[in-house]
Amino acid sequence: MGNENSTPVDEATPPTTLYGRNIEAVAQYIKEKDVKKIVVMTGAGISTSAGIPDFRSPDTGLYANLARLNLPYAEAVFDISYFRKNPLPFYTLAHELYPGKYRPTVSHSFISLLNKKGRLLKLFTQNIDCLEQEAGVPGDKIVYAHGSFATQRCIDCQTEYPDDRMKDTVQKMEVPRCIRKTCNGLVKPDIVFFGEALPEAFHRNRSLPAKADLAIIMGTSLTVQPFASLPSFVREETPRVLINFERVGGLGSRPDDVLLLQDCDEGVRKFADALGWREELEQEWARTNAGKVEKKRPEAPTNSRQEELDQEVEKLTKDIDTSLKLSGETSDRIRAEIEKGTSPSSRPTSIPSSTEPSDVLTTPQTTTSASSFTLNHVYPHLKEDKPEKPSL
Ligand code: APR
Repeated sequence: MGNENSTPVDEATPPTTLYGRNIEAVAQYIKEKDVKKIVVMTGAGISTSAGIPDFRSPDTGLYANLARLNLPYAEAVFDISYFRKNPLPFYTLAHELYPGKYRPTVSHSFISLLNKKGRLLKLFTQNIDCLEQEAGVPGDKIVYAHGSFATQRCIDCQTEYPDDRMKDTVQKMEVPRCIRKTCNGLVKPDIVFFGEALPEAFHRNRSLPAKADLAIIMGTSLTVQPFASLPSFVREETPRVLINFERVGGLGSRPDDVLLLQDCDEGVRKFADALGWREELEQEWARTNAGKVEKKRPEAPTNSRQEELDQEVEKLTKDIDTSLKLSGETSDRIRAEIEKGTSPSSRPTSIPSSTEPSDVLTTPQTTTSASSFTLNHVYPHLKEDKPEKPSL
């Protein structure tokens, strides 16, 4: 039952289960048949709006951007034999992707809402970001087909590695080693690498798509087997909805397939509108932000741009005067010491007066030691965060 034929069904062929081949007909089907066994299958595309790149989108996908890690080929970052030789590229990536930095998307919240309404049979996800559970989907409803960052262990002796130490190690971009000194093997999160077997939970649940009364496939290229075969296990008469930028995996080849070839968040909002759940969906998503420090909304500008500029120049001028005054006192003291003949070495630096015409505004840093003065409060974006060098 692998990949089915990918010829789109003839538009003239009527659906066998739905009233029409559109999301409104799927909403009507859910309500009229009281659909409660929905199987959802997701990939990286449902997390891209959270800021996590997917894998294969040209330009933005991870595989297009891993070149900087000098990999022999992009997927090597998830290849177990390459990892044994050089774990650094993976841990560089793990530093970026580690759970806790990102907020679930509306698409994640839609799945949580399906569950809250008692209609979710199972979510199969290929993602390792754990955003499904952060959005409220209970762990027992999720099959992490490619594992996740939730747990980790030594790849040689399988000894578990403590969660808190893992989080700390990844944040420091270090490579964790087995806690058993006699082993000292490499530690890897329980993410399924190429060349590794999928979790037992995947095989235990792979019969569920055939029991589903609706399948929803979102944000995946359906490139990687055996996950990519799941949609083909759904019964022929069971409606399948694809919400994805592009048509994938033979979806659209059946009379009851419905394609929303668009952004996942837009697609689930359209689905929620058809179901009359839009307000509940937005509330569900709003809850994923509760407790997070509200990003300071930029105050509505009260002053005009000119007034703002004047204020900034005034602030800068004051700062320069302050530093000049300090330097003035310093140079007075040095001059007094020189006159006393106590410190011949130091010479007063020639400090341009703040009124001295200058084709280049002299920032305070050039008149006082940089460490005693910064412009970070004026130009925070100039603050230079030295990237930590990853260390083995
Ligand atoms: N809205 C809709 N579709 C999107 C969005 C979005 N915001 N962002 C990306 N997509 C689509 C892309 O067009 C693509 O079809 O989602 C799909 C993402 O495909 P991949 O990048 O291949 O990700 P995925 O299918 O999850 O990859 C499967 O490959 O390397 C392995 O283990 C890795 O689990 C991963 C597996």
